Amino acid sequence: MDVETNAYSKPKSKNSTYEDEEEKKHFQRIVSAFKYYKPHSLQRVKKTEKYLLSLPAHHQKLLSNYKDHLNQVKQCIENNDEIIKLIIKDVAHIFENVSPASSTTDNTLTHRPIMADQEKVQATIKQLVRDWSTEGIEERRTCYQPIIDEIMNQYPVDECTPAEIRILVPGAGLGRLAYEIARRGYTCQGNEFSLFMLFASHFVLNKCRGVNSYKVHPWVHQYMNNLRPEHQTQAVYFPDVNPSDRPENAQFSMAAGDFLEVYTEEEHWDCVATCFFIDCANNIVQFIETIYKILKPGGTWINLGPLLYHFSDMPMEDSIEPSHSDVLDVIKGFGFQIEKEETHVKTRYAQNVNSMLQYEYNSVYFVCKKPQRPDGEPMSQNGVDTNGICREEQDSN
Ligand SMILES: C[S@@+](CC[C@H](N)C(=O)[O-])C[C@H]1O[C@@H](n2cnc3c(N)ncnc32)[C@H](O)[C@@H]1O
Repeated sequence: MDVETNAYSKPKSKNSTYEDEEEKKHFQRIVSAFKYYKPHSLQRVKKTEKYLLSLPAHHQKLLSNYKDHLNQVKQCIENNDEIIKLIIKDVAHIFENVSPASSTTDNTLTHRPIMADQEKVQATIKQLVRDWSTEGIEERRTCYQPIIDEIMNQYPVDECTPAEIRILVPGAGLGRLAYEIARRGYTCQGNEFSLFMLFASHFVLNKCRGVNSYKVHPWVHQYMNNLRPEHQTQAVYFPDVNPSDRPENAQFSMAAGDFLEVYTEEEHWDCVATCFFIDCANNIVQFIETIYKILKPGGTWINLGPLLYHFSDMPMEDSIEPSHSDVLDVIKGFGFQIEKEETHVKTRYAQNVNSMLQYEYNSVYFVCKKPQRPDGEPMSQNGVDTNGICREEQDSN
């Protein structure tokens, strides 16, 4: 059963022809970024090789193992490129309401490569480890399991019809959390706006069959902090489960597009599950407001992650960076009731466990409810209605 991938589209405006053109260009830019992976990555190794060859002969002799290692690195890049070719092979047709993009399999680069895009290609490869490999089990246990456990606690499968419980996972990455929720019988939609992620999740969810049938070398671009050469070249196999292994009636879909633009229907979802997502907003209040609006009265929002505000310190981007306690005030201000809150939840994100450098987040975890009025209308705690406007202000207008 294929995962339904809704069209990558923005709501159409009178400028839609312009927007279509822009989206096509963006699509081709990301395809080009994937195609540029191999030359870009090999260029990096060749620079080191060139320097190595310029060193005194007795230094080179002492570094002969290192020289062999660089050959291994080049082979790993070639192997990764084989996976990348598979990832972009069918993407021209992945979105249903967008006319197919031109061929993605020839070697033509339609866009000048952008360095930031190369980092995203590398991050996509690392995300395969977090979401779809045995090596990612520990990260998924700390990041996804608390969310899954809470869903099972709020909507026990033996006390409800799980297929009738609609769960949304915004910022779904490569889709593992959404997949795990759907695998338990709930109706689940993952939402993602990055084409890097969407191309790769489409490959895993719709094309990969058989367990651990593909391999990548996720840490091959990590030239520093390696204890042993093989830690850089290590192969990681994926997917660790068969992605088509879901109950027959499981409703699982991935919807492409900006969370704020795609989800405008009020009171549609029973549960919204966010993992490492809410700090991806320019204005986190807008994310919280949208979550509040799209939840049914009595619905649940489960969140886990840090506040690594993604737009902070980006010169061309707007950003606000309220602390966790300020965020909680905003959440309560919209009318949510906080049911659970935990801080210092040790979590990692796409980490190489063998590296001498480790990043760990003291994440926050919380569960909150949109209240239900006795008459069924959504209710606020602090006089803020579902539009985020104070009642007093509304009344006086
Ligand atoms: C830090 S990643 C987390 C991915 C996944 N939830 C996980 O825990 O591995 C955040 C994801 O949210 C996506 N994202 C950010 N802003 C978004 C938006 N406005 N709409 C949809 N997706 C968004 C990013 O592309 C990225 O894949």
